[in-house]
Amino acid sequence: MEGKKALGGRIWIQGSKNAALPILAACMLIPGKCVLRGCPDITDIDCMCNLLKSTGATVTTVPDTAVVEVDTRSVREHRLPEKYVSAMRSSVVMMGAMLGRLGEVCVNYPGGCVIGERPIDLHLYGLEKLGAQIWIEENHIHAYADELKGAVIDFPFSSVGATQNVILAAVTAQGRTVIKNAAKEPEVIELCKFLNMAGARIDYSGTLLKSGRIVIQGVELSRLHEVVYDVISDRIVAGTYLFATLAAGGEITLENVPIGQLDSICDTIRQMGAVITVDTDQNEMTINASDRDKIENIPYIETNVYPDFPTDLQSPLLVAACMAKGRLAVREKIFSSRFRIVEELRRMGAEIVVERDTAVVTGGRELEGRTVIARELRGGAALVIAGLCASGITTVADSGYIRRGYQDIVRDFTELGARISYAG
Ligand code: UD1
Repeated sequence: MEGKKALGGRIWIQGSKNAALPILAACMLIPGKCVLRGCPDITDIDCMCNLLKSTGATVTTVPDTAVVEVDTRSVREHRLPEKYVSAMRSSVVMMGAMLGRLGEVCVNYPGGCVIGERPIDLHLYGLEKLGAQIWIEENHIHAYADELKGAVIDFPFSSVGATQNVILAAVTAQGRTVIKNAAKEPEVIELCKFLNMAGARIDYSGTLLKSGRIVIQGVELSRLHEVVYDVISDRIVAGTYLFATLAAGGEITLENVPIGQLDSICDTIRQMGAVITVDTDQNEMTINASDRDKIENIPYIETNVYPDFPTDLQSPLLVAACMAKGRLAVREKIFSSRFRIVEELRRMGAEIVVERDTAVVTGGRELEGRTVIARELRGGAALVIAGLCASGITTVADSGYIRRGYQDIVRDFTELGARISYAG
């Protein structure tokens, strides 16, 4: 990409990766055909579809329609292939779904983006509480349950994936499950909505946002039925393009935005001097960051669980901070190694000092185009943003990471007027 050009125009925000992945796993609990509309065309979704196929399910993707159909009537295999499990951490939610469907699952330790310690102790704790026997053999995790039984599960930390895993296992468990300190992320609520549409009995509405509680009354597997479901749009992708505009300047409009889920992000961006306007009837959001004199850093921000500032937008925020006046300290409270792009940004001329879990960015330095290396999904997208702000040519190597979560970042930025193309 050749940087130093303000952005302008409008783009459509794709469906949410983090909502669609556990919902695809949830299809395992429904012995019939489910249809997901608005499913993003990204490699993590391909990976989850391959996992479903490996169990015997039939998965049909209709090209260019964002529709995925999953028919699980012929599911029989409980061993999940290592090549897909190792490629993506969220494959771990298949454990709860497979226990509910087959009473048995065998996986290797799940992989995913290398952004720090990512244990699965909370997942295993929750599944064991529901009556699963879990043992590790030759680097594989086996879980087995003659019958899952409802239980009270009190998480010491509200993990998104562990909450989803327990929900999936508890839907067809006998009796009542109470999850305390459940994650409140919109992607957890979407999973509950999908399962309730299919006949599950999950009470999250009043209880989750206030007290962090989810109550599940188990139902027979045979009571769950086919559904057609519309995937919500991706708050992290929307946030990425908002930060790109804050960093590069200009004015863009995002269509199909999950407006209510972006409050902490919009608050931060407004405090940094951009103007955001919202059209709730049309689900559109416009950001104007053209007046560069007004774009200034705020002193401090920390990432935290929803509804606070999301860890997934910490890297795009760092780049925006490089382009703003003044100094910003960012504390990363969710993942331990999520400052891996700092080294690359420094090579482009950024002034960033990292001490333990906090990065301090001194903005207003010129960035210079370089070849930089993407090492994970959101960091990769942030390096593209940096390239759009830098003088000269920037090449982002290993951009396959970005395809895990963004349908076509090059097409989107081209539509927004950027000079960007795929290399080679
Ligand atoms: C999900 C999102 C990811 C996002 C993250 C936090 C998906 C597919 N991914 O990841 O994009 O960055 O939420 O919002 O939805 N932890 C443990 N033990 C466990 C589980 C988690 O210690 O058993 C720790 C993790 O190491 C991490 C923290 O809890 O430090 C948060 O992890 P979690 O909420 O589970 O994130 P994911 O579900 O992996």
